[in-house]
Amino acid sequence: MAIRASGTATSGVTVRRRDVLGCGLALGSGALLAPRAGLAKAAAAVSGNVATGAFPPGFLWGAATAAYQVEGAWNVDGRGESIWDRYAHTAGKIKQGGTGDVACDSYHRYPEDIALAKRLGMKTMRFSIAWPRVQPLGRGPANAKGLDYYKRVTDALLEAGIRPFPTLYHWDLPQPLEEAGGWPNRDTAQRLADYSQMVVSALGDRVRQWTILNEPYVFTVLGYGVGVHAPGYRDPSASLRATHCANLAQGMAFRAIKAVDSRFEVGGAYSVGPTKPLTSAPADRAAADRQYKFANLWFLTPALEGRYPDGVLPADQLHALLDFRPGDESLIRAPLEFVGLNYYSFSYVREDSRYPVPGLNPEWPTPPASPAYAKTDFGWNIYPEGFYDIVMEMAKHTGRVPIEITENGAAYNTAVGTDGKVHDEKRIAYTRAHLLELSRAIRDGAPVRAYHHWSLLDNFEWSEGFTQRFGLVHVDFENGQKRVPKDSAAWYSKVIAANKVV
Ligand code: FCB
Repeated sequence: MAIRASGTATSGVTVRRRDVLGCGLALGSGALLAPRAGLAKAAAAVSGNVATGAFPPGFLWGAATAAYQVEGAWNVDGRGESIWDRYAHTAGKIKQGGTGDVACDSYHRYPEDIALAKRLGMKTMRFSIAWPRVQPLGRGPANAKGLDYYKRVTDALLEAGIRPFPTLYHWDLPQPLEEAGGWPNRDTAQRLADYSQMVVSALGDRVRQWTILNEPYVFTVLGYGVGVHAPGYRDPSASLRATHCANLAQGMAFRAIKAVDSRFEVGGAYSVGPTKPLTSAPADRAAADRQYKFANLWFLTPALEGRYPDGVLPADQLHALLDFRPGDESLIRAPLEFVGLNYYSFSYVREDSRYPVPGLNPEWPTPPASPAYAKTDFGWNIYPEGFYDIVMEMAKHTGRVPIEITENGAAYNTAVGTDGKVHDEKRIAYTRAHLLELSRAIRDGAPVRAYHHWSLLDNFEWSEGFTQRFGLVHVDFENGQKRVPKDSAAWYSKVIAANKVV
């Protein structure tokens, strides 16, 4: 649902994760983003040859996964403990007691999963590298067996003709680093830079494009402020410091990776989407604008411009709240060479003066059930036009930097039918509507070069455990991990073959 992290853990309060994710440049905040010349030119270049639902030649189609959500093998071959292991192993944190201990067992079954992706015609695979598998303590020596695993995975992808497109950090911080202060501790930034250098040195002969952080907004705000993701703290101040540390990490890792080989292309993946005020009250409208900048720009403006967006935190408190030190304006800079966008929905926002930023409110209101929007099984409002809006707005901000859609998809829990198939028409309808909007954005000049569907497989959906299925391929977690491609997989493979929405 638009509700991603049920706030099971700490309070019994249900927090709507998708609302907390809020973002989106569409509503009333256009002033933030000075349109850059070039977009119109680019539009003119492509609009002539992109028909409705069509994609430019060479467009990269694929899917995404993340280590903790699919790999399993949590304590195998020298892997260390991550904050998600610790969190999931703590009673009451995850729905139905789910953990990533086994998940989809992709650690052992990756050849089958890659063969499936190949059969569907995919050209790119986004996956993540588990930091504790590669560097179990978060500092110190590498675990050769962990690096070997990712060498095998990247080799298998290359053999299948699929681009390996790894993310270095998709939320699985080594637990010892959490014990040293976690993301609110500035030292974590240097740790991420060191680890990144270790990985790109080992895999750089196979991988050219690196995503540093996945959704820094989500892991800092939900993990440290709202408390519904690992490590589960409800401390808005720590959460704000964590956001700055993530920005430092992004800049420092960027330079560490480029120091290994300046030809690597380095980017990030950001959760984005429009925000809507919960009521028409001026205070709620203002809150929606602030939240929009916090959720969408808090990790991009620092990277691209070496500063934080104005109007989110009071200017005279900004540096104290973030523990921003002299010289940090250079450290947070990262001239990203591609920008990954993850889009699912919009979020509602209301003013609550108890919190420095609306998104830090752990008692997020339950949005009114609005008949205006159909919902996925997770309850997230379906809003395809928001995809067009946010891609266009982000493109104004990022100019000619190539955009990759690093995630988009929907939870539908369709079971395997008596005919042995999974008839998930709703996933097809969701994806079709979103791809039409994406095609329109490309026609209108957005420099989008790839689309990764979330996800290849049903998998461990964080605090929701195994209760929300996002896969194109059904996974039977109870009976032998059987993979059954859903109707949506067959449909997606036709889209890939046609390079247009069918
Ligand atoms: C995104 C996460 C991804 C997955 C989807 C549904 O926010 O990056 O791991 O859980 O949501």
